Formats: sequence, structure tokens, C-alpha cells
Amino acid sequence: MGREATWPASAPTSSDFFSPLDRSEAAAAMPKESGFSKAFAGAFVFLTVSVVVGIVTMVIFYKTQIGPLHPTPRPTPPSVTTSLPPVTRLPEHLLPQRYRVVLQPHLYTRIVEVVNVTSPNQTMLFTGNSSVTFLCVRSTSVVYLHSEGLELSGAAVTDQDSGERVGVSWMKKREDKGRFLEVQLGAPLAAGGNYSLFLAFRGTMTEDLYGLYVSRYSEGTPAYEGDTDTERFLAATQMEPTDARRVFPCFDEPALKAVFDVTIVHRRDTIALGNADMKDSYMVDDDWKVTHFHPTPKMSTYLFAFTVSEFTKSASSPPGRVDIKTYGRSDAIDAGHAHYAAAVTGKILKFYEDYFQIDYEQRTLGKI
Ligand SMILES: *[C@@H]1O[C@H](CO)[C@@H](O)[C@H](O)[C@H]1NC(C)=O
Ligand SMILES: *[C@@H]1O[C@H](CO)[C@@H](O)[C@H](O)[C@H]1NC(C)=O
Ligand SMILES: *[C@@H]1O[C@H](CO)[C@@H](O)[C@H](O)[C@H]1NC(C)=O
Ligand SMILES: *[C@@H]1O[C@H](CO)[C@@H](O)[C@H](O)[C@H]1NC(C)=O
Repeated sequence: MGREATWPASAPTSSDFFSPLDRSEAAAAMPKESGFSKAFAGAFVFLTVSVVVGIVTMVIFYKTQIGPLHPTPRPTPPSVTTSLPPVTRLPEHLLPQRYRVVLQPHLYTRIVEVVNVTSPNQTMLFTGNSSVTFLCVRSTSVVYLHSEGLELSGAAVTDQDSGERVGVSWMKKREDKGRFLEVQLGAPLAAGGNYSLFLAFRGTMTEDLYGLYVSRYSEGTPAYEGDTDTERFLAATQMEPTDARRVFPCFDEPALKAVFDVTIVHRRDTIALGNADMKDSYMVDDDWKVTHFHPTPKMSTYLFAFTVSEFTKSASSPPGRVDIKTYGRSDAIDAGHAHYAAAVTGKILKFYEDYFQIDYEQRTLGKI
């Protein structure tokens, strides 16, 4: 405080460092040659003095500003576990390698039977489970990942190398903006080891365009106002930028790329499309069909996508390295509304491949 009071008093040293200028002005009356070099020397002295005074002022100012704050020493990173929960970014202990995700949207693509015209019994529920395999790069006894709006159960951690279970002590959803799911383990995970975390979950589809959402359209013309017979529903996803965590628990940061092995359980008479090619698809009972996809290339969570719809018909594009299919309402496909899209997509893809000098990695490309 004492310093702060004396600081302004010492500031007007300006009178000192202005004097060289006065002298150089006086020197202007002298012969031209030496006058010039003296003016130059004077300016140099002036600049040097200004710099020194500036530095001294900054040091004093810094000390008076920082002095009363008693800054805490820099934290030293703990060697085994993160003692403080992360705020915005995931800790760097674990690197996800592969997700095995099963998702089942319970949505009806059309209202099967209208109980009351005003209250059709549609459902926005989706259920599923996921198992993420990760490499432990630094020992930790807490697994942090993202989850938002999901009801979670059945957490199980397995050591992939020995096949043994690692006990889960408790699990907590942090309600701050980080949306972290904190899974506390009974024993620390060893650096260099591979582990997996299984979780079952259930959630609600959104009616806005994020996460797993429901989209509506009509097929044909409604016979009267409020006619719901032509109303159709489909499930689609939009994970950008950070909504994959609303669909399944994941390490939802773009740098944490992994392979996705996806299974979609969907209603009969619907088709499921995903990031990768379909591996197989079959009925499991009278209502449900299971579609398995091939593993995706290594990719970020925000690129994860799938859709379930009645769009079982598609228009094919001219043959090429990539098999391009354009899906749509069957009446639209039959009427040829997808012809232009089917014809032009291959050219657009080729343009981007040439432009970015990167080939599209997969063999099929599905569009709706
Ligand atoms: C149908 O509507 C009637 C009268 O509006 C109501 O009493 C009944 O509970 C409704 N049923 C269902 C399944 O919503
Ligand atoms: C909707 O109502 C129909 C007829 O009552 C029934 O068969 C169906 O299971 C119901 N769906 C849901 C999701 O409740
Ligand atoms: C995950 O969900 C699917 C579909 O409901 C089910 O068949 C499978 O058994 C579940 N996996 C586990 C490990 O519970
Ligand atoms: C963990 O998995 C990686 C890649 O999947 C493998 O290279 C490594 O050997 C595994 N670690 C152990 C300890 O088995």
C-alpha cells in the first residue's frame, strides 16, 4: 500500500527525461553536422531513459497489483488420479479406441391405431447400451466421460487384457456445464492397460434438430384438416457440436476419435442407415428388426449418425468406386424426384475428393 501511495509522486520524472530534448533543441543552433548527430544521440538517450523508466514503472505496478492477491502456487499434476473434477475438458488419462453401441428408438413411423384423435400414443423413448474400450495412458481411479439427459444403469468396467472386472464404487452425473459422468472405481486402472466400460441407458428423443430427434412429414394428401393418417415420423440424428452425449455415453471431444460398431434395433417395415455399410439385417420378433453395421473408420463422436425411417426405396447413381444411394418417400422415388440427386452426387463427391486430395473412405454413401 505504501508503494502505491508513493508511486504517483515518483512518476513525474518526466521533467528529467525531457531535458535531453531541450539540449538537442539548443544544439540546433550549432553547425549542422554535429547538430544532427547530437540530436540523434539525444533522441537515443531519451529513448533509453524512457524504456528504463517504463520497465521500472511496470515492475512497481505489477508488484502493487499482484502483492495483495497472494497468488496460489501453480498446481502440480497428480500422478495417479485427478483430485479436482475437470471443468470443461476431459482429463487426458484415457483414450477411447472403440465403441460398441446398440440403439433402439421406440418411435412409431406412423400412429398404429388412433385411440383418441387428439391424443395419439406415439413414444419418444429410446433405449440402448454401449461398451467403450479405452487405453489407459495415465493411471486413474476415476473414469470421466460425457452424458446428458440419459438415465444410466448397469455400469461395468472390465480389464480387456485379463478379462477381470474392476469394481465400480459409484457413479455421478455432474450437473455443471461440463456434463461429465464420473465413474469412481474401486481400484486404479494401470497405465498401458486396455479397459472397457459398459452402460445401459434410456433417453427421450428431442423434437428439435439435435441429438436423436424425430422428424415429421406427410405421405399423400390429408383427407380433412387434422387427419393424422398421412402423418409419418422418422428418427434422425445431429450430433454436432456436442450432442452425441445425449444419445449414448461417450468421450465427446473431437480429438478422441474411435471406431464405432453400431447395431440399430428398429421397427419392422423400416430401414436403418448409419455411418458404415450394413453388415446384416433380420427380424428378431414380430415387431423388431436388428441391423448390424460394419465398423466405421476411426472418427470423432460428432460425426456419428444414423436414421430409421420408412424410406426403404432408393434411387441408384451411376456405378463407380462408391455405391451411392438416394433414399426417399416411395412415392417420391417412384415419381423420379430423386433422379437429379442421384445423378449429381457422384460428381460432387469427385470434386471434393480432387479438391481436398482425400478419397472418400467408405464403399457406400447413403442420402435421404
Ligand atoms: C380419450 O378421450 C376421452 C374423452 O375425451 C378420455 O376420457 C379418455 O381418457 C381418452 N383416452 C385416452 C387413451 O387418452
Ligand atoms: C398404442 O395403442 C395401440 C392400441 O391401443 C397399442 O396396440 C400400442 O401398443 C400402443 N402403443 C404404445 C407405445 O403405447
Ligand atoms: C444391449 O441391448 C441389446 C438390445 O436390447 C441386447 O440384446 C443386449 O443383450 C444388451 N447387451 C447387454 C450386455 O446387456
Ligand atoms: C492394448 O490395446 C492396444 C491396441 O488395441 C495394443 O496394441 C496393446 O498391446 C494392448 N495392451 C495390452 C497391455 O495388451
